[in-house]
Amino acid sequence: MKLLTRRKALALCLSGAGATSLPLGGCDAKPLRDVFDAVLEQEAPLCQRAARKGVLYGAAALSQHLSQSRAYSTVFARECGVLVSQNELKWRALRPSRETYRFAGADRLLSFAQAHRLAFRGHCLVWHIDNPVWLPEALKSENPVKLFESHIWNVVSRYRGRMHSWDVVNEAIRVRDGRDDGLRETIWLASLGPSYIERAFHIAAEADPSAILVYNDFDIEFADRTATRKRHALQRLLERLKGKDVPIHALGIQAHLEPSYPFDSAILTQTLDWAAGLGLRVFITELDVDDHRLPRNIKQRDKAVADIYRTYLDAALAHPAVALVATWGLSDKYSWLNDPYFRRAAWTARPLPLDAYLHRKPAWQAMAQAFDRAPQRAPMPDRKGTLAPALGAAQFASGNT
Ligand code: G3I
Repeated sequence: MKLLTRRKALALCLSGAGATSLPLGGCDAKPLRDVFDAVLEQEAPLCQRAARKGVLYGAAALSQHLSQSRAYSTVFARECGVLVSQNELKWRALRPSRETYRFAGADRLLSFAQAHRLAFRGHCLVWHIDNPVWLPEALKSENPVKLFESHIWNVVSRYRGRMHSWDVVNEAIRVRDGRDDGLRETIWLASLGPSYIERAFHIAAEADPSAILVYNDFDIEFADRTATRKRHALQRLLERLKGKDVPIHALGIQAHLEPSYPFDSAILTQTLDWAAGLGLRVFITELDVDDHRLPRNIKQRDKAVADIYRTYLDAALAHPAVALVATWGLSDKYSWLNDPYFRRAAWTARPLPLDAYLHRKPAWQAMAQAFDRAPQRAPMPDRKGTLAPALGAAQFASGNT
């Protein structure tokens, strides 16, 4: 009898064709249930594999991409246990004018997350990029503390109790700006002084007592001098804030990787040890692999990208502090690296687990195997002790996907 492919075997099982055994993969006939289980296991989505080990997996998205493609929204809901707002909770998206808030995009994202039992991550309350054009003048002409704190309060309290976590402050460290404390020279620092960071966390904690609050940054897990100085400045900052009981619950490591800037597994592990020692869990928040310096050949490029995913996740997931992994998008079709504004190569970037046709790539396999290999850890509850709805573990097992 012709050997059955995995997909055909699954179809046959689901069709209830009455067969009690099937020839598969060069082996003797297998009981139907074993075949079904084997096929399901190979098909198991990333969120389910991650949830088994106490890790929440998901991806960033724009509401327009989830609403304009049913195929994408279906695959997103299958593969992810958490949805991250890529842009629609940033100041520029939320505040088209000084007097108005525009929540429609973020509300659509929250509705999608709730409809598919996904956790929802807010990104980001305070950043030096993607702020509205009216903001700098307003910070000068008005009470900057009131403007700053009212934005955070209004946004966070609107979604109170429905957020898994917030990136409260994003990328506040830039050592080359020359400050002793290593803080980045931003409109927030200029208007409010260094205390803007703790203000943001205190307001967010008061506005939503259940959301996990995250400090998020990039390029701290590398061995070069710039990354080393940045990591040390970050460690001094978070140690000082935690020493003052500022409610920071997790460190977000963005993990925008690229082959020409290899991360250092030992430094990553040391950083995770340091974070755990400070009582922080760690989120890998924006994982992707910029392939623009790799060979154009897709097979070679996909393999090299998969190898980087594998190496990074094996190192990160080996540590019990890592509680969440989010890729910065799920499909190459919607990667920021294919936005004309950010594009760095003459060809289409392939930085994510699924290709533009939503097919699983070697990167997907590498992530799946890394989750399967990872040691178990306690999932991170929110501040009320509630665990995020791990979609894959729950719905997949009950066959409701
Ligand atoms: O959609 C509009 C388009 O209609 C308009 O014509 C065009 C020109 O103005 O802009 C388009 O919106 C762009 C949007 O990406 C599209 O997704 C915005 O200008 C552009 O600013 C926005 O860039 C985002 C960037 O952050 C700035 O907010 C990227 O999508 C997003 O992936 C990127 O993500 C950041 C994280 O927030 C922080 N960590 C780094 C990461 C990558 O830069």
